[in-house]
Amino acid sequence: MTAVTSTDAVVIRPAGRLRGELVVPGDKSISHRALMLATLAHGASRISGAGDGADIRSTAAVCRALGASVERLEGDRAEDRAPATVEYRVVSPGVDGLLEPAADLDCGNSGTSLRLFAGILAGLPFRSVLDGDDSLRRRPVARIIEPLRSMGATLLGRSDDSLPPLTVIGRHPLRAVDYATPVPSAQVKSAILLAALRAEGPTTVRETIATRDHTERMLRARGVAVRAERLDDGAGATGATGVAVTIEGGGTVEAIDQRVPGDVSAAAFWLVAGSIHPDAELTLRGVGLNPTRRAVIDLLRSMGADIEERPVDDTPANADAGEPLADLHVRSTELGGIDIDPAAVAAAIDEIPILCLAAALARGVTTIRGVGELRHKESDRVAGTVEGLRALGVDATVTGDDIRISGPARLHAATTDSLDDHRLAMTFAIAGLLAADGTTVLRPASAAISYPGFFDDLGRVAS
Ligand code: S3P
Repeated sequence: MTAVTSTDAVVIRPAGRLRGELVVPGDKSISHRALMLATLAHGASRISGAGDGADIRSTAAVCRALGASVERLEGDRAEDRAPATVEYRVVSPGVDGLLEPAADLDCGNSGTSLRLFAGILAGLPFRSVLDGDDSLRRRPVARIIEPLRSMGATLLGRSDDSLPPLTVIGRHPLRAVDYATPVPSAQVKSAILLAALRAEGPTTVRETIATRDHTERMLRARGVAVRAERLDDGAGATGATGVAVTIEGGGTVEAIDQRVPGDVSAAAFWLVAGSIHPDAELTLRGVGLNPTRRAVIDLLRSMGADIEERPVDDTPANADAGEPLADLHVRSTELGGIDIDPAAVAAAIDEIPILCLAAALARGVTTIRGVGELRHKESDRVAGTVEGLRALGVDATVTGDDIRISGPARLHAATTDSLDDHRLAMTFAIAGLLAADGTTVLRPASAAISYPGFFDDLGRVAS
């Protein structure tokens, strides 16, 4: 049960049981890409099941600023609740009809918007500036400046080209490149692939650890030829499989209608809540299970979680643009500690904070190795997660880029700080369902970045 005491803090009371069925928000990564690709396509696209978080609204606003008409429609919903999903109708003049924006483009809190739009704008022959909130202005951009410059665009960042605001002076056509990414990042890969649409000849992006492949799937669904080749020698010490993704330049993105599956990164909060709470049974409808995103489910299962996947059989052919989905059912269980290696961290990058909570309630030691990238998210998620869990009584330590958590903890009441980071706000709120009376989460409103109805849903399932 929750009791909101002010907009700056929420107090979560322990729940006796967790029961119910939830529709989580539409997948954030897919919703961003669906809006962007609809803006690159000439004509009308309909996107149903999209997420309604602030990040998606930031992307929609940038699409509008570039000249697309973007209409956001809410479906039926209870009046006092945030909609789980919304529908977008986009009508665009197509990539060649997009216009130089009259003002700086505000990406808000959204790193995905900033990095992917940089790739799009690199191939558009005008000047634009991508900016965002204080958190976004602390996030690294050198990783996209370097490859996009090598393709012939001009990009300038603050602080010696390391931070936003990011000025992009695009060029068409761009040069095709063969580029190996220095960090496993779907945002970097996607920025290059989107720029490559405007390049002469084939562009290849190589990753030693394959990251989420939504851009590749969604481009294919819109008629663009994309080839992905597994690189088994990309394994290095981690045992991960690398990938080389190649796209021909000059491809045309077609307008299509698409349904966005539920966000597995949002579902992860309930998968962990349903596992660690002693009296829980939850169903999550229509969750996206792309193989490059489902690691959180497999990691929880290897900890002992009881998660069942039930097929959804009402899917019209290609409605989900190559993105598989299923209903998920989770029940209380005893978890055990595991070793999470750097490749698994990359595959579950957004779920590490909530997996740390699962580890805290699991018997034995969990090590999470190679978490350095988490320091560059909406907050420093290594420090933020460990600090909040320690306040709750968890034995958690950080050595270099590794987190070690020993459980099971008996969570006590505490004040935790989301640092204005949506994933930390939701992690500490879930912890509050198990902690002794009254866990305070500071700055909980950040949950609305990806999951506007999170606290409503928490109130619905907890009793
Ligand atoms: C995203 C990629 C990930 C992830 C982010 C969304 C995407 O970032 O953390 O929330 O949609 O491509 P990186 O690829 O930079 O790790």
